[in-house]
Amino acid sequence: MQVWAVANQKGGVGKTTTTVALAGLLADAGQRVLVVDLDPHGSMTSYFRYDPDELEHSVYDLFQPDSELDMKMVELLLMPTSNPQIDIIPATTSIATLERKAVGQEGMGLQIAKALRLVKDRYDYVVIDSPPVLGVLMINALAACGHLLVPVQTEFLALKGLERMLRTIKMINRARKRQLTYTLIPTFYDRTIPASVNCLRELHQRFAENMSTAVVPVDSKFITASAQGITPSEMDLSSPGVQAYIRILRGLAERGRR
Ligand SMILES: Nc1ncnc2c1ncn2[C@@H]1O[C@H](COP(=O)(O)OP(=O)(O)OP(=O)(O)O)[C@@H](O)[C@H]1O
Ligand SMILES: [Mg+2]
Repeated sequence: MQVWAVANQKGGVGKTTTTVALAGLLADAGQRVLVVDLDPHGSMTSYFRYDPDELEHSVYDLFQPDSELDMKMVELLLMPTSNPQIDIIPATTSIATLERKAVGQEGMGLQIAKALRLVKDRYDYVVIDSPPVLGVLMINALAACGHLLVPVQTEFLALKGLERMLRTIKMINRARKRQLTYTLIPTFYDRTIPASVNCLRELHQRFAENMSTAVVPVDSKFITASAQGITPSEMDLSSPGVQAYIRILRGLAERGRR
């Protein structure tokens, strides 16, 4: 079972879209996929038509100090989605309170890693969507994953946010046995906008070794797919955005084999 986390300390860069698009393509290829929503806004949870204000069980349960983190508990969290190959561990808005509660509680950074270990024979891939802030939830995502995907919006302000994320990776690596590797995924690319072109050039110059094999263009099909609650590739396999994620996934698979 491979675990990828999708994270960036900047909001609105395409984290949730990247998570759902890649999960969808893996599912299309016959893989059994689990997606985990660690964002208190519950965007991915809503995407798959669950209400983050109403759910009885969610990722929140994994952080309850009194309850035993075992298979019986995790079983309650695995929910089906519109795609038979994809399950979701949803988020509820209550997980926002964890940032306050979990501070100073021993081992709270490893709850997701522990839960995923229990389901390692059930899924081929896990893709974790994270909130845009550094806190206990993002730390959990980074500690649980084998590889990190960082969507970067191709615009002027993106590089600043990226520097923050790179500092976080360094910090995490001081605590990890195996160094966390990462791939930058340029998103919202528009080759008619000079700022977008310049940003992409700078990313390639500075991070040549960590760039994804394709760039995700602005594509309104992502918005249509989310409105229908289906993965982008189920919506329209031929759209430029989906085609970009196909090439990115191929690059990630290749790097996984190396
Ligand atoms: N390549 C794209 N082209 C056009 N629209 C996109 C693209 N990627 C994402 N979007 C849309 O932009 C919005 C923000 O994307 P998304 O929710 O994936 O970002 P995010 O990083 O998860 O945001 P947040 O930090 O709020 O969780 C969504 O409405 C999504 O449908
Ligand atoms: Mg999101």
